[in-house]
Amino acid sequence: KRPAGAPDRRLARPVTKIGVVGAGLMASQLALLFARQLKVPVVMTDIDQARVDKGVGYVHAEVDKLLGKKRISQDAANRTRALVTGSVSKEAFADADFVIEAVFEELNVKKQVFAEVEAIVSPDCILATNTSSLSVTAMAQDLAHPERLVGFHFFNPVAVMPLLEIVRAPKTDDAVLATAFELAKGLKKTAVLVKDAPAFVVNRILLRLMGEVTAAFDEGTPAEVADTSLRPMGLPMTPFTLGAMVGLPVAQHVQESLHAAFGDRFAVSTNLQKLIENGVKSLWVPAADGSQEIP
Ligand code: CAA
Repeated sequence: KRPAGAPDRRLARPVTKIGVVGAGLMASQLALLFARQLKVPVVMTDIDQARVDKGVGYVHAEVDKLLGKKRISQDAANRTRALVTGSVSKEAFADADFVIEAVFEELNVKKQVFAEVEAIVSPDCILATNTSSLSVTAMAQDLAHPERLVGFHFFNPVAVMPLLEIVRAPKTDDAVLATAFELAKGLKKTAVLVKDAPAFVVNRILLRLMGEVTAAFDEGTPAEVADTSLRPMGLPMTPFTLGAMVGLPVAQHVQESLHAAFGDRFAVSTNLQKLIENGVKSLWVPAADGSQEIP
């Protein structure tokens, strides 16, 4: 059955090589997923060789883990490793038909990335963004071919979370959307079509919950009480654990986008800001006795 709003699959174009802009944790998880499930070459780029090597190293280490757990055959492991390469030059995208960015959550950074990519790729190469909350429409504004941009928003950890939000911007064309849905099928993800609205759908709902937890914390409720009191509700992860996994700066960006759009319904946590300014990466750090405490 065709997902709601998905265009006719016959419009989908073949994807034989994928480019990933960025080699950070999200980008590396994407590269691994694409190579493993779609079995096509994937090239990751970043600003220096050390970052590129780290990304490719992550993919190799995750393949080793899958092999150790017998979740992947030796042949599939070898093939997946060989399919993922890295480069410091976006020229590596010249023959790609789908390029996705997973770089810093800053509109101008993403626009700059797409301007550089568009100068290299062929006119019908599809461009995708994994942004959590920025406007896909704004990202498409200065493109020579805005109709080729689509939002392709994955959730952490990419290997296990089944959902994928496919974001249609006003100019995204049907062939691009149809290809996005076909890719999602190949990736074995459940794709939903969402409008280009602030933080799309899932983060908008999730952030109402996160926002109340951080507000309680800002107002003086101990972090552990604010965070763990919801555990008996059957959540797979407590909100702060989730925030730490996603990354505090990403969580704050999503809060800011929603606050800009909806005002006080989405408060921006003052404590999160302070923690980020002090370089704290996670709300929780392991204590000497193995328990976890707030830094
Ligand atoms: N990478 C790869 N695989 C991972 C992983 C990771 N980071 N973390 C867990 N897994 C795998 C484990 O290896 C394990 O696989 P096997 O069965 O093959 O061994 C499987 O997931 C289950 O893991 P665990 O048994 O260790 O732990 P769990 O039962 O608690 O499940 C979880 C882990 C699936 C992550 C679960 O805790 C969960 O669903 N958490 C909520 C995650 C969530 O809500 N994510 C959305 C975040 S919001 C976001 O990402 C949006 C954004 O834009 C910011």
